[in-house]
Amino acid sequence: MNNGPVGVFDSGLGGLSVLQELKRVIPDEDYIFYGDSENAPYGVRSDEEVYRLSHHVFDELLDRGAKAVVVACNTATSVAVRKLRAEHPEIPVIGMEPAIKPAAEQNPGRLVVVMATPVTLRREKFSHLVSRFCDIADIVPLPSPDIVRYVENGQLHDEGLRGYIRGLFHSLGDERTVDAVVLGCTHFPFVSDLIREAAGPQAKLYDGNHGTAEELLRRLKERDLLSAPKDHYTIEILNSAGDAQTELSWKLFRGEL
Ligand code: DGL
Repeated sequence: MNNGPVGVFDSGLGGLSVLQELKRVIPDEDYIFYGDSENAPYGVRSDEEVYRLSHHVFDELLDRGAKAVVVACNTATSVAVRKLRAEHPEIPVIGMEPAIKPAAEQNPGRLVVVMATPVTLRREKFSHLVSRFCDIADIVPLPSPDIVRYVENGQLHDEGLRGYIRGLFHSLGDERTVDAVVLGCTHFPFVSDLIREAAGPQAKLYDGNHGTAEELLRRLKERDLLSAPKDHYTIEILNSAGDAQTELSWKLFRGEL
């Protein structure tokens, strides 16, 4: 057993959607969440920059005693998770995976749209997933870089955002019925209502948050790292952009926006 906290990080606030699921699936752990909002978005940066920033935040979590780290960002996972794992074999490092597998398997022969950042969509992790499941469903990438900015500002119901998301789906062509949407960026579950509205009522939404929580649980058990029972479990939220963004993080985490 190990009572150290689980470290969780993202380029900003998106990873809080993962933290919500981690807390739901594994409530009896302490968590430290680090949002790098000062440097968000990661999804339009070069691979070198994403790696450098991810590494910096990862080290910060290790310095604070993290016994495992969840990379709660699809972009940082695509670029950095393999190297981080290789550099730190002593701790579990869990990444995100866009939920293409369940979306394709549950919608055979249908249109599966994958919304993610440009970095995620150009990396080999994504092309590998598409090549595994493209015989089952029609998998179409939809780069959606601007959503992150609205979530970072706490503007979850903004009219500009609604128009932007509608425009993204229009760009697919009106004749196509979208059967499934993969939320391949951890910021996107926070605006799932607007995405559902634009994709149409028939569209089912998929994200990788539950899979990541299950994977963390497996890895903690495997290495005997689960926390010993205690009266109270803590969540600490840190943000590189300072106090106002930390306050906004808590509101988002608690579903108050
Ligand atoms: N939340 C991140 C992800 O899951 C990326 C957002 C960004 O571009 O910084 O990809």
